[in-house]
Amino acid sequence: MTRNIARWKVFVTRALPGDAIGRLRARAEVEVWPRERPPRRTELMTRLERVDAILSMLNDPLDAAAIAAAANLKVISNYAVGFDNVDLDAATRAGIPVGHTPGVVTDATADLAFALLLASARRLTEGDRELHGVRRHNWGPQTLLGTDVAGATIGIIGWGRIGQAMARRAAGFAMKILYLKRPSQRGAVPGASGLEARAVSLDRLLEESDFVSIHAPLRPETRHMIGVKEFARMKPGAILVNSARGPIVDQKALVLALKSGRLGGAGLDVTDPEPIRRDDPLLKFPNVVITPHIGTASRATRERMTAMAVDNILAVMDGRAPRWCANPDVKLRPRSPRRE
Ligand code: GLV
Ligand code: GLV
Repeated sequence: MTRNIARWKVFVTRALPGDAIGRLRARAEVEVWPRERPPRRTELMTRLERVDAILSMLNDPLDAAAIAAAANLKVISNYAVGFDNVDLDAATRAGIPVGHTPGVVTDATADLAFALLLASARRLTEGDRELHGVRRHNWGPQTLLGTDVAGATIGIIGWGRIGQAMARRAAGFAMKILYLKRPSQRGAVPGASGLEARAVSLDRLLEESDFVSIHAPLRPETRHMIGVKEFARMKPGAILVNSARGPIVDQKALVLALKSGRLGGAGLDVTDPEPIRRDDPLLKFPNVVITPHIGTASRATRERMTAMAVDNILAVMDGRAPRWCANPDVKLRPRSPRRE
């Protein structure tokens, strides 16, 4: 019996490292967006209307309107641990599982966060810029004086996988560790054993920390959770590190805290918006280190993310839920392929 069943159509919104896309091509019609810039809204929408699966990036907004237009869509596979670019409720209502890539991103992201902490504390980029910018630089006993890391207190906001990986690094640098569970986390947090760390309230964390590092997901309850009031509570001279999502910090309040000199500096891998605008006031502060959202950007990590994102699509193609699913309670949309 010939069953005239069309192969799945899959849209991959950027070229990805590794060879896992080959496994997808073996079973589906795959279109890979060839450019570095994300597809524009209209470009995204025309594809969403006809594909069975999308492998999306954190800067592809899949809001309710996009999901409503995606009549054939059976799975969203997001190339990130975070999924704040996807309207999860809309996807769940439409019967679309949302895959993501937790676990493999943990160490790379914590490494980058700790690099930002060290770079801010010891004014790495300021020194680097000086050497690139002037012909001669004299060593001086008061030049580029920074902040000690050993013995300092770090306050970790978000005690998930990445927050705890940050804590392990901090422990290696003899820091005292305070942490705040995610607002959505309840009860005991698994995996925290073996670390000397104290759970505290947000106020306490802000008051006692020399470094405050954010490792929480962006949710309605974490949006702007660090604002004017919170900066005012921080120790004078404290340093903020954000490798999670830009909008968790009220960026106007951050600029004010830097302007007033209350904040000693900031190490940011994420901003609001991204990419940061050329004229953003944050770029004017010498004591702000900014990287372009590269927390997971090690070759091996990105290749593992590709494999997981592909596996999440193949699972749904085979009638199962994605192995790594952000909305595990979703009732899958009938997945018989379109007949042509
Ligand atoms: C990166 O920001 C991720 O969510 O994986
Ligand atoms: C610094 O380089 C020192 O020798 O103290």
